[in-house]
Amino acid sequence: MVSKASFGETSDGKNIDLYTVKNPSGMTIRLITRGATLIGVDVPDRDGRFDDVVFGFDTAEEYESDKYQYFGCTTGRCANRIAEGKFILDGKDYQLAVNNDPNHLHGGAQRSLDKVVWAAEPFEKPHARGVKFSYTSPDGEENYPGELAIEVTYTLTDKNAIRIQYKATTDKATPVNLTNHSYFNLSGAGDPTINDHVLTINADRYTPVDDTLIPTGELASVEGTPLDFRTPTRIGERVDQLNDTAALGYDHNFVLNQDAEGEMTTAAVVYDPASGRVLTVRTTEPGVQFYGGNFLRGDTGKAGKPYAYRSGLCLETQHFPNSINTPDFPSVVLEPDQTYTQTCVYAFSVR
Ligand code: GLA
Repeated sequence: MVSKASFGETSDGKNIDLYTVKNPSGMTIRLITRGATLIGVDVPDRDGRFDDVVFGFDTAEEYESDKYQYFGCTTGRCANRIAEGKFILDGKDYQLAVNNDPNHLHGGAQRSLDKVVWAAEPFEKPHARGVKFSYTSPDGEENYPGELAIEVTYTLTDKNAIRIQYKATTDKATPVNLTNHSYFNLSGAGDPTINDHVLTINADRYTPVDDTLIPTGELASVEGTPLDFRTPTRIGERVDQLNDTAALGYDHNFVLNQDAEGEMTTAAVVYDPASGRVLTVRTTEPGVQFYGGNFLRGDTGKAGKPYAYRSGLCLETQHFPNSINTPDFPSVVLEPDQTYTQTCVYAFSVR
């Protein structure tokens, strides 16, 4: 079942719609047209009790005034960081917004994909239902080259999985790196910590960064570091040993173990012993950014609940940060004769 309601309007008077999507077992997701954003995910725990496990706000105003958290949004055109906001493509220099000093972050300051209102088309199929969002970003928007036509389709399956499919085409070569920026706490959004969640990441390597969180270009082994999540490990167990970056906590891009480029792989599994909920993340992307909520500072979210430091985690499936300036990383350049695609699945179950 898919239903539609109003979610208020933007400060410049554009209507924002809210879509509520429910499957036969009662799992519900909520999506808004601003930023093609996932604002709610109600899933059962091992006793069948439903909780909303993602972060968000109750009003359009709060989404608009939040400048740094990116709750649940479609992130881009280039998610993650680009060094000093600079790149050269087809011999031309580009300067993007420097909105995360000294770098560009998550597509820019004014018209990044999380801040614009998308068109939406709900759909229902025999075992799946959802919403297809589309947005055409004009040539030069946020200083990115090319008119980029983007579709993001959220599907809720009968089996409690959210499938997010991305598609984009351009009329000029341009960097594209899309992701979803949901924050999860499997005990329920607003629970004070994710330290007791048990995480597995299917990665032997990660991309070490400089002190502004830009990769050095090296692919380093996770062996013997607090980034070795190849076997299930409590997130809190080694978080205080992390002193390798300015993020002072988990905020790292992992290089997924993939047999072939673009092949669907399990990126990560998160298990919450308290509720029994399990989140399995699958993707066609080469990387996943595991961000442990180090920049959360207790701001109030949905239903008046505060989101404390390290009380939510993101598993952002994407290409590696600053790929556009790192020739050895998988390319993020989309050419006019190509179609960008990505699938990311957030599947829920219980143990
Ligand atoms: C990403 C980044 C983090 C932070 C968050 C948003 O996950 O890697 O450093 O900027 O987004 O707060």
